[in-house]
Amino acid sequence: MRKPLVAGNWKMNKTVEQARELASDLLPGLQDVSAVERVICPPFTALLPICAMLKGTDIGLGAQNLHWETSGAYTGEVSPAMVKEFCQYVILGHSERRTYFGEIDETVNKKVKAALEIGLTPIVCIGETLAEFEAGRTAEVLTRQVLLGLADLTADQGGRIVIAYEPVWAIGTGKAASGIGANDVVAKVIRPALSSLFGEDVSSSIRGLYGGSVTGENAAEFFGQPEIDGALVGGASLKVLNFLEIVKAAAK
Ligand code: PGA
Repeated sequence: MRKPLVAGNWKMNKTVEQARELASDLLPGLQDVSAVERVICPPFTALLPICAMLKGTDIGLGAQNLHWETSGAYTGEVSPAMVKEFCQYVILGHSERRTYFGEIDETVNKKVKAALEIGLTPIVCIGETLAEFEAGRTAEVLTRQVLLGLADLTADQGGRIVIAYEPVWAIGTGKAASGIGANDVVAKVIRPALSSLFGEDVSSSIRGLYGGSVTGENAAEFFGQPEIDGALVGGASLKVLNFLEIVKAAAK
């Protein structure tokens, strides 16, 4: 059985004060839904204060990136150990990082390995662009992202990742994929690729999230699918009632 997981990606939003306010509004509702693994991913600057607020709860904390090196002259970067001081999770390979910050499958792979080595759970994002979707290249792109992004992991390490299928055309656009469509992609493309790396048993144990314009209104459509085990939520994770609605839908 794969435990449902809902993660809120706050992206580059919220000062420390704003983040504390959002977290304290979310906490009571989130604490009620322990059937779902709930994770919030504020920006780096808010990790320390939010970590303190989550003490004694079973709500997870995640970063939105890390660098693969352990320390050194890497101006502006944050190491795996620095993230591990506060977090249990880290979002890696998000399409915004691929699009705006030059991330490629090979660097995602280094980050995934570094995260696993330090004991973080990587939420690895993959997804095709609109042009790739329209050209019928979805399967090819996703297979490449899985095979290269997760290359050279042991099956045991593979079993500790979470994969998030996020079609780039659905992120922040209000145009979510359909539940059936997303389920099909996970079942027919992503799990077979995971299986070729780690074997059938591990592949079927890995949580597959959907991300891209998930809201309280459409969440149930995704969670009703056999291969969708939760969601990576951007915009709606900044809205208390909407995010709680998504988490509750995952518990059903
Ligand atoms: P969205 O973002 O929910 O705002 O579409 C999802 C994501 O980028 O993870």
